[in-house]
Amino acid sequence: MTTTEPATTAAELLRARYGADRLPAGESWSAAISAILQHRSIRSYQGTPLPEGALELLVAAAQSASTSSNLQAWSVVAVETPARRGRLAQLAGDQAHIRQAPLFLVWLADLSRLARAAEARGMPHAALDYTEMFLLAAVDAALAAQNAAVAAESLGMGVVYIGGMRNRPEDVAAELGLPPGAFAVFGMCVGYPVEDSAAAIKPRLPQAAVLHRERYDTAAEPAALEEYGRAMDAFYAEQQMRVRGDWVEHSARRVAGPETLSGRDTLRASLGRLGFPLK
Ligand SMILES: Cc1cc2nc3c(=O)[nH]c(=O)nc-3n(C[C@H](O)[C@H](O)[C@H](O)COP(=O)(O)O)c2cc1C
Repeated sequence: MTTTEPATTAAELLRARYGADRLPAGESWSAAISAILQHRSIRSYQGTPLPEGALELLVAAAQSASTSSNLQAWSVVAVETPARRGRLAQLAGDQAHIRQAPLFLVWLADLSRLARAAEARGMPHAALDYTEMFLLAAVDAALAAQNAAVAAESLGMGVVYIGGMRNRPEDVAAELGLPPGAFAVFGMCVGYPVEDSAAAIKPRLPQAAVLHRERYDTAAEPAALEEYGRAMDAFYAEQQMRVRGDWVEHSARRVAGPETLSGRDTLRASLGRLGFPLK
């Protein structure tokens, strides 16, 4: 397989996902798995707007995800106006793809609707103040967003998640007019990829590092990380990308200290001010 011939068969897609013939294609396969394995983040978009009704279809896919106790504790803000996308790009560390993609979805952990609904019936909602409910809402938002991502990719669109929405969460909340109890967990650029910039499938860790059978076991981890280092070296060489250090070094730098969190080291205090007491 070369970079000009995208992986399409089960064997090719599995090879691309692990950067090696590590997982043989078995008997099970489906169109959905094929689409999921073809995922790559897109950071270069055509200006072409999405077709009529596409946004609503993506939201229907998002709403089809499982949701804790059917509470549906998430919402999404669809931002299409260039000026607002520009301001959000700035708040997310000046990420150009937010300006470029025609649609920017901001996925919210949203407990505010439950608070309003309970209040309208004169019922208490003190449980919303607990960390558990924040986590529940963030999980719900992530599951919904990933369904929308898969749906967009199945329509030939590309996406990239934007954790940069958490760099300055109170400014993002002000920009989007969020009520207390709603928090932008991440954003997502959606649009048609620039053809000749089609990003390659990025290898993931060998399954020996992430799949544990019956009980957690780190015995195979060092070898798996070594193998992954070699797979990523080959990937970056093929992509003609110069990256300093291997995945372990790169990832360890990313978690070295609060200064690596792009301002998110103060997130807990921000959450308190945004209506999440996290009891
Ligand atoms: C929650 C989340 C936040 C992310 N934030 C950003 C971001 O702010 N900017 C960006 O360019 N990519 C972002 N990404 C994309 C990841 O860098 C990307 O998924 C990862 O490197 C794997 O590459 P792939 O998606 O092409 O397989 C984010 C991904 C996730 C899941």
